[in-house]
Amino acid sequence: MNGERSLGSVRPMAATDLDMVLLWRNHPDVRRWMYTTHEIGLDEHRRWFEDASKDRNRVLLVYELEGRATGFVNLGRIRGTDVAEWGFYLAPDAPAGAGAGLGAAALEHAFLVLGLHKISGHALAGNERSLRFHQRLGFGSEGVRRDHHLAADGVRHSVVCFGLLREEWLAARGAARK
Ligand SMILES: CC(C)(COP(=O)(O)OP(=O)(O)OC[C@H]1O[C@@H](n2cnc3c(N)ncnc32)[C@H](O)[C@@H]1OP(=O)(O)O)[C@@H](O)C(=O)NCCC(=O)NCCS
Repeated sequence: MNGERSLGSVRPMAATDLDMVLLWRNHPDVRRWMYTTHEIGLDEHRRWFEDASKDRNRVLLVYELEGRATGFVNLGRIRGTDVAEWGFYLAPDAPAGAGAGLGAAALEHAFLVLGLHKISGHALAGNERSLRFHQRLGFGSEGVRRDHHLAADGVRHSVVCFGLLREEWLAARGAARK
């Protein structure tokens, strides 16, 4: 693999992506880091997609790398503002390094296409890959909500909060291109 690989792009999720995205979402390496960790059935998944598709504050995206669907990104505006929370996961068989492309493509879409001002991210404190992922993308730490999430198995988790402003992202992107 050389360093010139394309970073990929995002496109809107379609109903034809439902089965594929459900397989990713139900994979143990993905769902263990979600707020809800049960195995999701197709009916529940369809209802989630229908509800999200009607919600003007929600944007569901599929990340494509070299023509292959490789990840999922969810952007949700907070009460109609230009601040959004995001969630994401790679396909469990995504190639090493795909996370960087998913992040770059999703942020470009969020800031340049949707015109958002800020992206807010939350990761369970033990999710080292997601913590590193946010830091690598330039997110600033916005504190830790201690014992904020009670998982279905009764274990409490702290939640690490991150934020990235459009101006910070633009500055870092400009510097990287010099
Ligand atoms: C969170 C997530 C998207 C982050 O992706 P990622 O792990 O950073 O993906 P990458 O493949 O880009 O990086 C994996 C490692 O390969 C390294 N890497 C980067 N480019 C690489 C390349 N071209 N070749 C080989 N390795 C590479 C990265 O540095 C990283 O190493 P590190 O984790 O030790 O720092 C992914 O782990 C995931 O989908 N997790 C499950 C769901 C989840 O937790 N979602 C977030 C909830 S808050």
